[in-house]
Amino acid sequence: MADIKLIVGNWKMNGLKDDSRQRTQALLQGVAGSAGEAFKMVLCPPALWIGEMVSLTKDSGIAIGGQDCHAKPSGAFTGNIAAVMLKEAGCEYVILGHSERRQYHAETDSQVAEKARAAHAAGLVAIVCVGELEADRDAGMQNAVVGKQLAEALPEGATAENTVVAYEPVWAIGTGKTASVKDVEEMHAFIRSELNKKISHANRVSILYGGSVKSSNALEILQTKNVDGVLVGGASLQADEFLAIARAGAAAAQEAA
Ligand code: PGA
Repeated sequence: MADIKLIVGNWKMNGLKDDSRQRTQALLQGVAGSAGEAFKMVLCPPALWIGEMVSLTKDSGIAIGGQDCHAKPSGAFTGNIAAVMLKEAGCEYVILGHSERRQYHAETDSQVAEKARAAHAAGLVAIVCVGELEADRDAGMQNAVVGKQLAEALPEGATAENTVVAYEPVWAIGTGKTASVKDVEEMHAFIRSELNKKISHANRVSILYGGSVKSSNALEILQTKNVDGVLVGGASLQADEFLAIARAGAAAAQEAA
C-alpha cells in the first residue's frame, strides 16, 4: 500500500491541444511543488498531446501516461501505439483494459495481460483496470468477475513496482453513480487478497478506485481501507475539481500516517 495517494486523470478522447495545455498549466500552478510529496499525480491525455504534456510537466512531479498500448513493439498494426513508443515519448504509466476498451474494442483479459507484459518490458507502470457490470453485481457475481479478470489480465512478472490495479465498477463510470464506501471497502479487500496469491509484497500494490469520483466524494473514498488512489475521468477535465481531489488524497494520506 502506497504512503501517498495516486491521483490519475484519464482524459479519454477529450480536449484539443490548447484545452489540454491550459488545463495542465492550471494544474501545475495548483500543485505548486506538492505533486510527488503530498500525492502522486498522473495525467493520461489523448496520445497526440503526450509529447506536449511531457514537456509542460517536466520536473514538476506530475507524471504522464498513455490510455492504451499495443502488445507488440512494432509491426503492421494500423492506428496502434507500442508501449516502447509511449516510453520514448516520456510516459511513465499506461492504462490497460479500461472498460471502454473492453466494450468498444472487444479487449479480452488475455490481451490485457499481453499488453501489460509489453508495458513492463518497456519500463512502464501498467494500470490494469477491472470491474463488474451492473448485472454482475445484481447477481452477486462481482467477486467472481473481478477475481477472474485479475487472474487472467495480470501477467507473470507483475510486481508492486510495475503494476497498479484500478477497480472501476462499469456501472459507476460516467454515470454519476458511485459504489458505496462499504462496496468499495469489500471489493478492495477482496482484490488485495487475490493479489496476495499472485504477487509478492502485494500489500505494496496500489489499488485505485474509479467511477464518478469527484471533489465531493473523493475524501471518503480515499479514506477507505485499501484505497491507494483514484482513477478519475470526467472530473479530471476540470483543473479545480481535479486539484480538489488531489488535495483530498493528501488529506487522507496525512490522516492515515
Ligand atoms: P468517470 O470515469 O470518472 O468519468 O466516471 C472514470 C474512468 O473511466 O476511468
